[in-house]
Amino acid sequence: MSVTSINRGGEVTIRDLSKSFPIAGRELAVLRSLDLDIRSGECLVIVGASGSGKTTLLRILAGLEAADNGTVAIDGRKVEGVGAERAVIFQEPRLLPWLSVLGNVAFGLEVRGVPKPEAEERARFYIALVGLAEFADAWPRQLSGGMAQRVGIARALTVQPGILLLDEPLGALDAMTKISMQEELARIWSEENVTMVLVTHDLEEAIYLADRVLILPKEKGGAARLISIDLPRPRDRSESHFVRYREGLLREFGLH
Ligand SMILES: Nc1ncnc2c1ncn2[C@@H]1O[C@H](COP(=O)(O)OP(=O)(O)OP(=O)(O)O)[C@@H](O)[C@H]1O
Ligand SMILES: [Mg+2]
Repeated sequence: MSVTSINRGGEVTIRDLSKSFPIAGRELAVLRSLDLDIRSGECLVIVGASGSGKTTLLRILAGLEAADNGTVAIDGRKVEGVGAERAVIFQEPRLLPWLSVLGNVAFGLEVRGVPKPEAEERARFYIALVGLAEFADAWPRQLSGGMAQRVGIARALTVQPGILLLDEPLGALDAMTKISMQEELARIWSEENVTMVLVTHDLEEAIYLADRVLILPKEKGGAARLISIDLPRPRDRSESHFVRYREGLLREFGLH
C-alpha cells in the first residue's frame, strides 16, 4: 500500500501569547507577548536556556496548556485543547508494553474507529518508513532506546497530523544514534510534508533540521529571536556555512 503524501502541513499563527506561572508566591512570566507565524510545511526549531519556556510553548501549541493571554490559530482556526491535526512526541516514547510495535503504532487509528485491517496496513507503512519493518511484531521491551523512539515517531505519523510537535525527541539518545535519527527526521519531514516544531538543546541539531530557529530569551525582559537557516538539504555538518551558523548560535548564548 502507498499512503499518498499530500501537502497537509498546518499553518500556525501565534499572537500576543503570554503565560505566567505562580512560583513561591510570585508570578513568573515565562512567555511574554510572543508573535510568530509558522509556515505550512516549515521546520521550526526552538532553542533557549533551561527554563526559558520551550516546553511551555510546545504544550500551548499542543493544546495541553492554556495561555493566559493571546491566541494560537491553526489554518485560521483558534486552538482550544488538543486536536487530531496535531501530534506530540516527547523525550520518552511511552509505548504500551502489552502491545507489539504494530499494535502500538495502529492504536491511535483504532481508537479513532479505523477498522483493524486498515489501521494495521497504515501502521506497517509508517513502521517501514522509520526503518523498523522487521520489528513490527517485536515487544517494546525488546527495543533499544533509538528504536523505541522511532516507534513513537511512527505512531505519531500514522494518524497523519498536519503538525508534528516534538519536545527534545532525541535528547535521551547516544551521540551516534542521535545523528542517524536526525537524518531520518529530516527525510521523514520532507517526505511527509508535515509542519514540524521541534525543541532541542542541541544547536547542531537545530541547524541540521531547521528552516528557522526560534531563540527564546533567557532574561525575562529579552525578546525572542528568529534566525533563518539558508542551507541546501541534505545538510553537511562540516561544511563552512554550517559551521558559521553554529558559531553564530553559540554567540547568541554567549558561548563563543
Ligand atoms: N506547571 C507548571 N507550574 C509551575 N511552573 C511551571 C510549570 N511548567 C513550567 N513552569 C515554569 O516555567 C518555566 C519554563 O518551563 P519550561 O518547562 O517551559 O522550560 P524549558 O525551556 O522547556 O526548560 P528545559 O530546557 O529545562 O526543558 C520554568 O521556570 C518552570 O519552573
Ligand atoms: Mg523543556
